[in-house]
Amino acid sequence: MNTEDQARQDLLAATRRLSSAGLNSGTAGNLSVRIEGGLLITPSSVPPEQMGPEDLVAIDHQGQPLAGRATVPGRSPSSEWRLHADLLGQRPEIQAVVHCHSIHATALACHGRGIPPFHYMVVQAGGPDIRCGGYATFGSQALSDLAGQALEHRQACLLAHHGQVTLGATLAQALALAIEVETLAQMYLAALQLGEPPLLSEAEMGRVAEQMRLRHYGALGAAG
Ligand code: 13P
Repeated sequence: MNTEDQARQDLLAATRRLSSAGLNSGTAGNLSVRIEGGLLITPSSVPPEQMGPEDLVAIDHQGQPLAGRATVPGRSPSSEWRLHADLLGQRPEIQAVVHCHSIHATALACHGRGIPPFHYMVVQAGGPDIRCGGYATFGSQALSDLAGQALEHRQACLLAHHGQVTLGATLAQALALAIEVETLAQMYLAALQLGEPPLLSEAEMGRVAEQMRLRHYGALGAAG
């Protein structure tokens, strides 16, 4: 199997895993991986169970079909292709982008709230907190710009009234981080039932990051 065929199989498997893990439903969410000359991205408005490897769309960083690739009739790249193309363009260290509307992360984002350092595993997203980017219409350049800002020095962010975005040095890491962000959001919402929880200090979050780096722990350790 050539590398693009392998990328198609991996992206489809990750798309299905996102749904089976309960992080996405219906046609919500989209995933991409970097390929030679551009990116491979999920098609717009197609539920994972109806998606085959041939339905994934190969585009350049301007959203144009990559030369020599036949797009299945009726399939177009995800409406969020700008966000995916921009992030892959801005962040040479990443290979994959995952976007989904997981319930607990989205519930926080609907209040415009990110995830503060209430738990040490927040460090997995690349820093002491997970920011919530501002709201803009889905598929817009404005949304891509807001996501890019919220992801500065981070590998995950929430998007107001929308969902979450994760980045990975591999597709598996971006997927694992999306699951971690959803878990942290669920924990934070549970902790909020008793009031705003105390937060870990920036110094402690720095120590946690160092421990994870030394132990090659989780997505952050493997990426670093
Ligand atoms: P697409 O089906 O176009 O990928 O859109 C889903 C979505 O989640 C938009 O943010």
